[in-house]
Amino acid sequence: MCDVAIIGGGVIGLSIAWKAAEAGMSVTVLDPDVEGAASSAAAGMLAPVTEAHFGEEPLLALNLESARAYPQFAAELEKASGEPSGYRATGTLAVARDLDDRAALDRLARFQTSAGLQVERLRSRECRVLEPGLASSIRGGVFVRDDHQVDNRALLVALRTASERSGVVARRIAVRRITVEGDRATGVEVDGGEHLRCGRCVLAAGAWSALVAGLPDDARPAVRPVKGQLLHLNGVPETVPQHTIRGADVYMVPRGDGRLVVGASVEEKGFDTSVAAGAVHDLLRDAYELYPGAAELELSEVAVGLRPGTPDNAPLLGETRIRDLIVATGHYRNGILLAPVTARTIAHLLSTGETPLEIQAFSPRRFGSAREAVS
Ligand code: GLY
Repeated sequence: MCDVAIIGGGVIGLSIAWKAAEAGMSVTVLDPDVEGAASSAAAGMLAPVTEAHFGEEPLLALNLESARAYPQFAAELEKASGEPSGYRATGTLAVARDLDDRAALDRLARFQTSAGLQVERLRSRECRVLEPGLASSIRGGVFVRDDHQVDNRALLVALRTASERSGVVARRIAVRRITVEGDRATGVEVDGGEHLRCGRCVLAAGAWSALVAGLPDDARPAVRPVKGQLLHLNGVPETVPQHTIRGADVYMVPRGDGRLVVGASVEEKGFDTSVAAGAVHDLLRDAYELYPGAAELELSEVAVGLRPGTPDNAPLLGETRIRDLIVATGHYRNGILLAPVTARTIAHLLSTGETPLEIQAFSPRRFGSAREAVS
């Protein structure tokens, strides 16, 4: 028996586990470590401003709050784990490859400015002062000083260590089903048949969250997998950009030590995690058009991740119609960014039974069922 069983040991599940354990709860995290898990495939951009979209203002507010919480979250994590968090305040430069891109960037900059966000429009020459390796053909850009990054793999290592040090039990095992008695979740049955009883159950299994058995259809989270392919390139710090660079169809995230993550495709291919030659080609071509030196780097890995997409691109956070079953999934393109605010608000819900104001608009009950995720 434990206070909280968390299904999913990615950045979201572990962040909640760490904060819940620090608040005094006994916590078990269950995860079989599946291929395609989004947390290790992500690029780790913390980009509430450069990824802001028209019509997604509530999500923008949540993303901004989590971005503001990152420095403290990272510092606390480093203290708790003794490991680097991977957080880097590098800023992001969005650049236009042609006049169409320029018009789209200008439209987005007007929206960002009207929302009170800090963006600086730059001429082509000014972009190349910031990043001398940019193609001479680029048509200007927008610098966003406050859009940073975190090395998501370093973050995962630190979260595993911090949560174990705070008493979290991590088990590498798949959950067969959530056990529901009457209208209440009572625990989980894992591979092999063992039943683990818990006071509360948190479903944080990313794109797999709707597949966990045991729930009636209208309580299953409305998530679907959205495939992303990314490239890991290696050079030396002088041969890669200093800031995150974004184009219309590609982004490049430098880790500061010569590594450069280039992403990402956005594909509706179900649970397919195969590497496609065409996606590698497109990413390399798009990166090369903005930053020709990318072609000289070593290609060390192609990563494939499955984002948990939702019908409105916003996460599912909070209670379900099954008592003691809480959902924290559907973070889609913002899982790494939203870890601090998700951890804080879900840990608060677990310890007080109250849903914090910031996540009330993201109730999983706003959609009828998992079926809506694909319709
Ligand atoms: N946030 C970047 C991505 O999902 O590709």
